[in-house]
This record gives sequence, C-alpha cells and structure tokens, in this order.
Amino acid sequence: MAQEDVFKKIVSHGKEYGFVFPSSEIYDGLAAVYDYGQNGVELKNNIKQYWWQSMVLLHDNIVGIDAAIFMHPTVWKASGHVDAFNDPLIDNRDSKKRYRADVLIEDQIAKYDEKIDKEVAKAAKRFGEVFDEEKYRATSPKVLEERQRRDALYERYKKAMNATDLNELRQIIVDEEITDPVSGTRNWTDVRQFNLMFSTEMGSTSEGSMKVYLRPETAQGIFVNYLNVQKTGRMRIPFGIAQIGKAFRNEIVARQFIFRMREFEQMEMQFFVRPGTEIEWFEKWRAARLKWHEALGFGNAMYRLHDHEKLAHYANAATDIEFNMPFGFKEVEGIHSRTDFDLSQHEKFSGKSIKYFDPERNESYTPYVIETSIGVDRMFLSILCGSYREETLENGETRVVLRLPPALAPVKLAVLPLVKKDGLPGKAREIMDELKFHFHCQYEEKDSIGRRYRRQDAIGTPYCVTVDHQTLEDNTVTLRHRDTMEQTRVAIVDLNSIIADKVSITSLLKTLQA
Ligand code: GAP
Repeated sequence: MAQEDVFKKIVSHGKEYGFVFPSSEIYDGLAAVYDYGQNGVELKNNIKQYWWQSMVLLHDNIVGIDAAIFMHPTVWKASGHVDAFNDPLIDNRDSKKRYRADVLIEDQIAKYDEKIDKEVAKAAKRFGEVFDEEKYRATSPKVLEERQRRDALYERYKKAMNATDLNELRQIIVDEEITDPVSGTRNWTDVRQFNLMFSTEMGSTSEGSMKVYLRPETAQGIFVNYLNVQKTGRMRIPFGIAQIGKAFRNEIVARQFIFRMREFEQMEMQFFVRPGTEIEWFEKWRAARLKWHEALGFGNAMYRLHDHEKLAHYANAATDIEFNMPFGFKEVEGIHSRTDFDLSQHEKFSGKSIKYFDPERNESYTPYVIETSIGVDRMFLSILCGSYREETLENGETRVVLRLPPALAPVKLAVLPLVKKDGLPGKAREIMDELKFHFHCQYEEKDSIGRRYRRQDAIGTPYCVTVDHQTLEDNTVTLRHRDTMEQTRVAIVDLNSIIADKVSITSLLKTLQA
C-alpha cells in the first residue's frame, strides 16, 4: 500500500477510535487545530509522564516549572521572535491563495526526487534481478541530469534562505515555473515576511491596553525564571529546568494532520552549564534523548539524527531527532547548544543582572544552555504511525492493531465477561474494582468476544481478560496478549503481578538507566 494511503488510514483510525478529532468539527473544523479524544488524552498524558519522569525523577539536578502562556511583550523582543520569527509568504493573484515561498520550492525539489525515483523504479522493472540500483543512480544520464538540476535548485534555495533574500526566493519560483496548485497560474505577488506569533490585547481600553503574544515556545518561561529557580532551589550548575506546556504559531502551511499545528504542546528542558563545557553536555544530551526514543521499541532504524550544517547565529551545535513517518523522516525533537544568547539578551533588555555565582570558582558568569525541545503532538503522531499495523490472520480476516508500547497504551487491561448473564458481569466488575487502582482498566460487555478483542486491538490495549463460567468455579480467567493473540489461563490473584510491571512507566524508565 502506498505510504500516502497508510497515512490517510492512520488519520481516520485516530478519529474513529477516539484519539484525535478536528477542532470544532460540527462547524467544519478549524484549520490545523485538533482535539484529543478519550483515548488520545490518555496516550498523550502517558507520553508526557514518560518525558517528565525521565527528566525530573531520574535526575536530581533537574526540576520542573509551569510558566504562564502570556509573558511580558519585551521577552519576545529580547528573544528575537518579534523581529525574526517569520515565514516568507507569497500570494497568487488569481486564486487569492497564500503560500509559504520556501514550501513551494521544497515541493519542487521533492518533485525532482520523485522523478528520479520513478526513473529508477522503471529501470528496476526492465532489468529484473540483475539490476544494480547504486550503479544505475551513479551512471544513468537521465538520472544524472535530473540530479544536477535538483542539486542546483537546492543550493540556490539554501543560499536565498540563509541570506533571507526574498527577491531571489520569488525569482526561483518564477524560473522554476512553479504554478499555483489551485488556479494553475503563475501570477505571483512579491514575497513578504510574515510573523508567526499570535497577538492579543491585555487590559481594558480606559487604562490603555498592551499588545501581548501567545508564546510561540515554552523555553522563554524557563529562561526568565532560571535565577528564581536556581536561588530558591539552591541549584548548582550544571542543572536543568523542565517544562511542558502549550505553544502557538500562526503556521501558514499547516499540513500532515497533527505534525504542524497552530496550537500545540512542547516538552522543553534547558540545561545550564559552565561556559566551555557545553559541547560535552550537548553530546551527552543528544545520546540520552535518542536512547529515550529508542527505549519505546519501534526499532532503532526508525530514528535518524540530523546534525545542522548551518547553525542559527546563537547556536554552536544543533541536532534533530527524526522519526520515519509515512511521509518520510521528519523532525520530532531538536537538541541545541544555545550558548549564553537567551540569558544575555534578557539581561540586556531587562537591565537586571541574571548572572550565576559559581561558589566553586568564586566567580559570576552567564551560564551556557543546552536545550532539548520536543513536540508532544509530533511524538504522539510518531507513536501512532509506528504502532499502526494491518495484519492478515490465518482465517484470512484482517485485524487492525496498534502495537503501542504497553507503558503508553491508553487502556492497559480490558475486562470482558464472556456473556451478559449467569453472574459473569458481576465477577468481571469485581476484577475491575481490584485492578483499577493499579492501572487503567476498561469494562466491556457489548458484542461478541471476537469483536470486543478487535476493538481493544484497535486502541492498542496490551491485555484482555475474559471471565467465563470456569471463572466462577476456580477463580481463573483467560488472559489474551495483544501482539501474539496468545491466550493463557491464569489465576485472578496473579493478574496484578503479571501485568503491572509490563505496563508501568517505571519499567520503561529503568531501561534508560541500564
Ligand atoms: N525552543 C526551541 C523550539 O521551539 P522548534 O524547533 O521551533 O524549537 C521544537 O520546536 C519542537 O516543537 C519541534 O521539534 C516539534 O516537535 C515541535 N513543533 C514546532 N512547531 C510545531 C507545530 N507547528 N506543530 C506541532 N509541533 C511543533
């Protein structure tokens, strides 16, 4: 099945099983804004727990905060967001549609890649088993010609973006004869910068109001509080501050479901270090964060580290952790060595000293910062995509199963009476009443047992127990495993010890320390 179709299925599965709904759907939705349903919120909370605990519980030098979404507007001047948090936009005069100029060009680059792949696929068919793809890519004149055009375009685009040369971006669109997908014309306006921050007014008009922004990242709440936390928590460098919270960006091209949203959630940790030690810490955090992802068990080949060649002016090292989504390897997390840029800017704009006094060195300095920044929603999407399977069973039927890491699954155990009579529902309720204190259980009695198993597979429940007539006699139940569909007979008293460990975030966290 084409990856595009797989992705469409994942999106509709997410809706059908209560993971993600379009926001305000009865009013036809709000672009790039989504709501999490009854299963989505559980999965999301488990992701947040896994991250929070891996930061705050496993490191005695990392503490958390929860800063407000609104911040003093000067924060965003100091951070550079007011002046430089922009996307280059272009309008088509015929369709009246607005596009991101960089996205139009990136799509054009992708078209060259597709052409090359199609050429290679055609040759593979022609030559059959003797086909040597590497050699063909290196020698075919057609492929080489397309490759050269593609690389020249990429270089030109990169140069224009790095220099923020808006005229050149427009010229590339014109030279490449890129057409508007809606009108099919090339009637383009100039390229203009568009700030991504949402703003609103604070205060009543009689007192005068102040323009404030919805934060576009959570990090600044940590920077402006770092000395409060350091002093009140008697923290010594190196130390970190972690935060989970909403961020808002007026994304113009919002595509790929919850990959790029206008309202989303971030999990950020700023680690404050002595200047000169930042690269060492950057390497440590890069390895630690990759391990955190890999511990989920999707296979290490699903992740890729992408080191940035071109760094932002304030960074001296940066890496993205990418996940193999159905639409290619995409950034889920960024790890940046941000030098002392943010703290120095806040010192300059606030006029207040926010230097750290280092008792070991008996000197004050502005700490350097390593940032780990991950989007909750992107992480959620990567987990949904990595877990979704359509399996053909021995009897020819298809089962859709989410092979979620058990520690993240919304429901850990479904308790199912075989029939709705003979005292079986009562017995099942007794099991629920005992186990619900240990992990999230769901009771279901409607439909045949086979259909109930399928529903639990579809939401990724790792275990189901079936209460039958034998249960009333010997207090045993059938325990069914989601991934193998294997069923074993176990005593009710043993259920907690069999399941609890396997579905707990603690077990996952222990693998990080191994
Ligand atoms: N403080 C650094 C920072 O915000 P970023 O690369 O702009 O860096 C960090 O964002 C992470 O936040 C990304 O890796 C991504 O997971 C998530 N993210 C950013 N923009 C997003 C959006 N529009 N929708 C969903 N997630 C987003």
